[in-house]
Amino acid sequence: MSVGRALPPGRRVAPSILSADFSRLGDQVRAVMDVGARVIHVDVMDGHFVPPITMGPLVVESIRDLVHDAGGFIDVHLMVERPERHVAAFAEAGADAIDIHLEATPHAHYALKAVREAGCLAGLAINPATPPEAVTAAVDELDIVLCMTVNPGWGGQAFIESSTPKVARLRALLPERVAITVDGGVDASTAPELAAAGATLFVAGSAVFGSPEPPTAYGRIAAAADAS
Ligand code: DX5
Ligand code: ZN
Repeated sequence: MSVGRALPPGRRVAPSILSADFSRLGDQVRAVMDVGARVIHVDVMDGHFVPPITMGPLVVESIRDLVHDAGGFIDVHLMVERPERHVAAFAEAGADAIDIHLEATPHAHYALKAVREAGCLAGLAINPATPPEAVTAAVDELDIVLCMTVNPGWGGQAFIESSTPKVARLRALLPERVAITVDGGVDASTAPELAAAGATLFVAGSAVFGSPEPPTAYGRIAAAADAS
């Protein structure tokens, strides 16, 4: 099945709105896009797969025109049980990529196919304790592997150091067309080693929106990741 959407080329920092100020979400997204962000990361949590409950398709819909009109891309990270049941709603709301967790469904292959059939890029996310080899069985159905570099569920956690060799292993296992996202504890100090290991998409929440100056913080992480 052909996919109508493509990730912006090269390495990219993807600000995660989980750490944004929701009372002025549009302004915060616009501020980072004005300085070059082209991928906006949306963390969806259901209170089951991970304890917190965050946001749903309505939030994606609320930023879709703002992001797409500026040439941007919405990356939706589903930390929800049985993600296959929610793919259509997020695709209709404006998602360009949907990342589902391998640990959240017995039907990951089916869920990835459903994401592509909904017209989005398909991402497979794995938790810190899931071995990199676990993604290979579904490689033909995926466009992105999201390697959690903290345990999913909260922003602002410390980077798990063993993630860097895991990313290098993923890069060796996966064809070049598959993007590798790193998510959790990514900042200007952890980005260089992750870039060297082969990561292409650098999700950063608290390091961007936890800063008093999100555009400046974005620029610093992008420079550290040697990203555009
Ligand atoms: C955590 C989320 C992350 C989160 C990262 O479960 O998947 O996307 O926003 O936050 P930081 O960058 O603060 O570690
Ligand atoms: Zn995430």
